Amino acid sequence: MPNSMIRIERLTKRYGPTEALKGLSFEVPRGQVVGFLGPNGAGKSTTMRILAGYLTPTAGQALVGDVDVVAEPVRARRLIGYLPENNPLYEEMMVVDFLRFIAEARQVDKAVRSARIRNAVERCGLGGVISKDIGQLSKGYRQRVGLAQAILHEPDLLILDEPTSGLDPNQIVEIRALIKDLGREKTVILSTHVLSEVQSTCSRVLIINDGRLVADDSPEHLTAGGEGSLVIVLASRNGAPLDPAHVAGLLRAVPGVTGVEGAEGEGHGTAGFRLRFGLEDPRRALFEAVVKHDLMLLEVRRTQASLEDTFRKLTGQPEPRKAA
Ligand SMILES: Nc1ncnc2c1ncn2[C@@H]1O[C@H](COP(=O)(O)OP(=O)(O)O)[C@@H](O)[C@H]1O
Ligand SMILES: [Mg+2]
Repeated sequence: MPNSMIRIERLTKRYGPTEALKGLSFEVPRGQVVGFLGPNGAGKSTTMRILAGYLTPTAGQALVGDVDVVAEPVRARRLIGYLPENNPLYEEMMVVDFLRFIAEARQVDKAVRSARIRNAVERCGLGGVISKDIGQLSKGYRQRVGLAQAILHEPDLLILDEPTSGLDPNQIVEIRALIKDLGREKTVILSTHVLSEVQSTCSRVLIINDGRLVADDSPEHLTAGGEGSLVIVLASRNGAPLDPAHVAGLLRAVPGVTGVEGAEGEGHGTAGFRLRFGLEDPRRALFEAVVKHDLMLLEVRRTQASLEDTFRKLTGQPEPRKAA
């Protein structure tokens, strides 16, 4: 088995006068979960369509496993599960019929077809909706159906184009968890224009801008020196004064917190702190700790991670205007 799952070499794609890809090269080893990050129009979907065998490059090469996607599209597609941008589905079909239809179209062996469908339904949490028409489902459930169809033929590589775009915050959390779970046994490349997406899901980030690769690094490295921080203000529930040193000790014990400093906001019975954290967002654990120690959280502010600054610098996007 070749060690790299994706190998793209000097890929270019022209749509008439528009050069969407300008000599893109990168490699993804087996087992990695990679975030493919870039502003709108950067060329993410174009790259993914080429990889999935739905679009022919103007020049260059794309290999999946050791299979050239242009020369052997059928063989390549067996290795790939693809969730296209905007996830087109057959609205009037029942979920289970749709999955059966896809399994047939992908020529999944008849002997294992039912088992594969059951497995995909279970993995993607679709048990309660298999008899519903796809048109009746929420956007979150439609994405689950999209992921279920992508894994039906048990591909090695998942190509997910903006899998959480258009979802509400709860659905985003659910779909991210599902992708993380799938990523434990598959190579995953997922595109997004949202930074927090790669921070929570991916071990590596490729940033593209205007058809070119501008960064290839770990999320930790890209945020180097400027991990996230939270500014919080606490109060005791009974109005008694807080002992800042004692409370700082409690905060230091919260999972995910890597540093605690005194901050602004100290006053009558309240105390403010700045909490530093790495990749793991400590907010949930923080809420639990606050309740456990009978404190009240008066304020939580998350300061911008420097990955956003890195991203802006790399993609030449202007600084957001600060509110006066
Ligand atoms: N079918 C198309 N015809 C013409 N131009 C296209 C087409 N698809 C994409 N483009 C252009 O190619 C560039 C890259 O688009 P795309 O790959 O969709 O970017 P992303 O997915 O990163 O937003 C953009 O300038 C876009 O307008
Ligand atoms: Mg796109």
